[in-house]
Amino acid sequence: MVTISVIKADIGGWVGHSASHPEVLAFGKESLEKAKQSGLLTDYHVSYSGDDMFLIMTHDRGTENADVHKMAWDTFTGGTEVAKRLKLYGAGQDLLADAFSGNIRGMGPGAAEMEFEERPSEPVIVFMADKTSAGAFNMPFYKMFADPFTTAGLVIAEPLHNGFVFEIHDVKEHKKITLKSPEEIYDMLVFLGSPQRYTVKHVFNANTNEIAAVSSTEKLSLIAGRYVGKDDPAAVVRCQGNFPAVGEVIEPFAFPFVVEGWMRGSHHGPLMPVALKDAHPARFDGPPRLVALGFQIANGMLVGPRDMFDDPSYDDARKQANQIGEYLRRHGPFEPHRLPLEEMEYTTMPTVAKKLDGRWEAV
Ligand code: F6R
Ligand code: MG
Ligand code: MG
Repeated sequence: MVTISVIKADIGGWVGHSASHPEVLAFGKESLEKAKQSGLLTDYHVSYSGDDMFLIMTHDRGTENADVHKMAWDTFTGGTEVAKRLKLYGAGQDLLADAFSGNIRGMGPGAAEMEFEERPSEPVIVFMADKTSAGAFNMPFYKMFADPFTTAGLVIAEPLHNGFVFEIHDVKEHKKITLKSPEEIYDMLVFLGSPQRYTVKHVFNANTNEIAAVSSTEKLSLIAGRYVGKDDPAAVVRCQGNFPAVGEVIEPFAFPFVVEGWMRGSHHGPLMPVALKDAHPARFDGPPRLVALGFQIANGMLVGPRDMFDDPSYDDARKQANQIGEYLRRHGPFEPHRLPLEEMEYTTMPTVAKKLDGRWEAV
């Protein structure tokens, strides 16, 4: 069995919240190289999306392994020292705990992990987002695994034809439910359509029960009780054979759908699919970005990455994202550009409401 663990955190931005600094990424590589030499990791690749560092790791210890999580935590705390020395912006921002306590979950960093029997050929895509929230993968996962207009294989490929099982988490109540497509898609969409509360954690092939996809569902604001930056989630998707083809997996992102995030994590904006070279949000700290790195896993080794959105066939999506972004920007502080009030509870909104409390008069 091979485990792929993608663990990510924003530990400091260069400049502001726009990008990751090469010295921090170099520290990440050094740390993971040591872990590989020590035998903890089979292989690794360190990457980034905006101001978040993504540790892409393979090993044989299963998901939620304390040693792997501790090493990732130590990599982020060590990287924070580099960020502090360079006075990068928001050094250590996502590290919400003082000391490691057995599992990185609930400590700030996001994690997307899956364990599986490596197939004769094992293509996977690692998605890395910036300036958006956990839940951003709800619509694309639905499209990849339940929408025949996206994934032709659901109609014409035997191994996909029986559908997929979605494990959906209620991030506020800390409970989960599994629903099957296509039979239960209408029930499922009641929840998936509200990604700020319900997020798809895992997807499985309904015939074989094999894991197909995983996303990080950690919500920083729920952990911290206040706004400390957006979650900037990660996802891993297995492709081909019993799963959607690579081209079906990345097809949903040709539509720059609107997500939560962008400036101060408090706005709606289009999710722009970009190549790594463009993964540094600038305008109004955005718009939100997504990078897709493709790997072939060979005996646990990460053969790649291929920068999947570095493709002119995504140019129109990027152009459309800019148009949607401009349209939304013109709403300024008004909804629906700004998030609805309930979603602003982790910002200055409660303080303002409290300050003005006595000034409201009955009408
Ligand atoms: C969004 C984000 C940025 C910051 C903004 C203000 O996820 O990281 O838009 O929220 O730049 O940052 P602070 O509050 O650190 O000055
Ligand atoms: Mg940041
Ligand atoms: Mg970020």
